Amino acid sequence: MSKPRLYSGMQPSADSLQIGNYIGALMQWRDLQETYDAYFSVVDLHALTQPNDPSELREKTRRTAAQYIAAGIEPSKSTLYVQSHVRAHAELAWILSTITGFGEASRMTQFKDKSQRYGADATNVGLFTYPVLMAADILLYQTDIVPVGDDQKQHVELTRDLAERFNARYGDAFRVPIPVIQQDTARIYDLQMPTAKMSKSAESDAGVLWLLDDPAASAKKIMRAVTDSEGSVRYDREAKPGVSNLLVIYAALTGRQIPAIEDEYAGRGYGDFKKGLAEVVVEEFGPVRQRALELLDDPAELDRVLAANAARADEVADATLADVYDKMGLLRRV
Ligand code: TYM
Repeated sequence: MSKPRLYSGMQPSADSLQIGNYIGALMQWRDLQETYDAYFSVVDLHALTQPNDPSELREKTRRTAAQYIAAGIEPSKSTLYVQSHVRAHAELAWILSTITGFGEASRMTQFKDKSQRYGADATNVGLFTYPVLMAADILLYQTDIVPVGDDQKQHVELTRDLAERFNARYGDAFRVPIPVIQQDTARIYDLQMPTAKMSKSAESDAGVLWLLDDPAASAKKIMRAVTDSEGSVRYDREAKPGVSNLLVIYAALTGRQIPAIEDEYAGRGYGDFKKGLAEVVVEEFGPVRQRALELLDDPAELDRVLAANAARADEVADATLADVYDKMGLLRRV
């Protein structure tokens, strides 16, 4: 029996991934690639919805791919590729846009947040159709599961609706995927603003832990993380969002349970706790950072790996797209 399929991706929207991407997504990807036929893309077409310097975008794309590999995604086991290398993504996005309602797309909360933040004139149409391209990514591969952080759930739900709609209207072309969200780590918060999601595109860098940061810089950010005046290391998301967020990070990276960590630090101050967490973070990310930088030292080899993986992706994606064109009545080129 063939393995079930998995699809996920990240935007190359910064020089480094942040710890929320790592805990909320990459750690799951690494485990799931053992039991799934996994596809992981660097979604550079999605990143075009933000202003980009072309040479920086190329660099960020390689950096994102290098961090996938450094974090344990194996390009011989999983298909790890760059979205724009596989033409079918943009083509299927167009097709799906013709069955997506304007109102339906307008209800996407990420679009609403971003368009409000930028204003109508600075909001491009690509930002509006962003979730449709994401649906195309997923549906091209006959995906069973989509492991993501909590902020992508609505987009995966739209993907399911589009798959069901297409199948009902034109005949079965798509498998209907399900989102897989690890509840306890689905949302890692900013260290300075522990009620806001940590994000690659945060306005201030002080609350973001970058995978490729110098370990000393990460340790310093942890020591300065916002806490509260109570002084006890205790999980309480409502009353103690800062400490709770640090506990979630600690537990995720060590595989320990939160109560065990609370016990270890009982009667000790936040300084000790933060020092402990800084050690955990440096230990986890030190080797990932080093491996990523080594991979980036040989961009030609990295590009070769990505090209070979894109060729594998092409095969699956082209088959789905041909079936879709056929079902919709587009005349076949003979
Ligand atoms: P992106 O690049 O914003 O984030 C990549 C992944 O990291 C998760 N994530 C978080 N998880 C927990 N806490 C956080 N603070 C945090 N920040 C980010 C995200 O949920 C995501 O899983 N639209 C997607 C990329 C995409 C995609 C796809 C994903 C394009 N096509 C197809 C899955 C399937 C995005 O912008 O992710």
